[in-house]
Amino acid sequence: MSPEGRSIFDPKLYANVLRPPLQAESLPAWCYTSEAFHGREIEEIFYRNWICIGREDTLPEAGDYRAFEYCGRKLIVIRGQDGRINVLDNVCRHRGTLLLTGAGRVKVILCPFHHWGYGFDGVLRGAPTMEQTEGFDKREYGLKAYEVETWNGFIFMRLVPGGPGLAEAMGDMDRLVAPYNLPDMALARSKTFTVACNWKLFIDVFMEDYHVKPVHKSSIAGTYTAPEPLERINGDFATIFNPHQGTSALLTGEQYLAFPPILGLTGKAAAGTRYLFFYPTFAYACTVDCMWFFEIYPEGPSRTKVVMNMCFPRSTVARADFEQKFKAYETRWAVSMQEDVDVLERQQAGFETDQFTPGRYSPLEPVVSMFASWLVRHAIVTPQERAR
Ligand code: FES
Ligand SMILES: [Fe+2]
Repeated sequence: MSPEGRSIFDPKLYANVLRPPLQAESLPAWCYTSEAFHGREIEEIFYRNWICIGREDTLPEAGDYRAFEYCGRKLIVIRGQDGRINVLDNVCRHRGTLLLTGAGRVKVILCPFHHWGYGFDGVLRGAPTMEQTEGFDKREYGLKAYEVETWNGFIFMRLVPGGPGLAEAMGDMDRLVAPYNLPDMALARSKTFTVACNWKLFIDVFMEDYHVKPVHKSSIAGTYTAPEPLERINGDFATIFNPHQGTSALLTGEQYLAFPPILGLTGKAAAGTRYLFFYPTFAYACTVDCMWFFEIYPEGPSRTKVVMNMCFPRSTVARADFEQKFKAYETRWAVSMQEDVDVLERQQAGFETDQFTPGRYSPLEPVVSMFASWLVRHAIVTPQERAR
């Protein structure tokens, strides 16, 4: 229940969140702390939208897989014999054993318990000594396969089918990032860590400039200038373009260590950083020489597992001096991420009190407001309810 004694799902409680950014209020604290609210997010947001689960080049061959957990579901992402990426349940259809662990390459998805074997498309291929089991039809005991689409080398899944395809949901995003030649990007490094904050806060801080001077004062704030006014776009995403010299992927004082820019980059894209956020969890940044993105795995209202991925053009990764020079990029990401994480965990701690009432936004954080508004339109007034 909210402080007023109403259900936290009463749309009236969110009327001020839906206003334009400079008139809006922020979300109530329970949106960041309540198990019930988080449960609603799982049902209406995480299961019903396209979720980025990494880059295709991490699974180059048929049978390459990674086992992972998403909002309580145990899943496998695996490349099939036909080259397509599949996302399957990681739970055996015989008596429920978890099938694969970790990551690697397999010839078949083999259950360790009684050796039922599944193809990379989830079809049950072998089930020893089941011939006498009456009415048993292997075709009925495949692993559940979920919707998967790929885009520019990224893998997206949607756990509840239905709704717009990936391209339709993205709208103008494809056009806006075309200059960066994302299909040519190679994953150079991934870092996995857990932050003691709500998943929305992790994305908010990535998409707002208001905190950059106070939080990143001596690391990266000197690189950035004022962000451009928001562009008119179509699609289920938000974007900010920040014009500046050099690359935003190095510390301000280490710009001399930069790799060459992305081949063919011209115009606006050659002088700044584009931040993008495809709702609900795919946040990434493209700058003049590289791209970095997050996979977000919420682990409850106040805990978020994050995979941070750093990608460069293939020609950059192939350089003999790549590993040596990459260290400076790694340092920049580590330093600025720690600065963000420290403040995010303090923000979460504030929400965990019963003392916070909704605040207001500055002109430097419109995406925080737009995201909150999107969230309310999808989690409180759900598309199912709107359709009624
Ligand atoms: S539980 Fe998987 S084969 Fe028996
Ligand atoms: Fe930051």
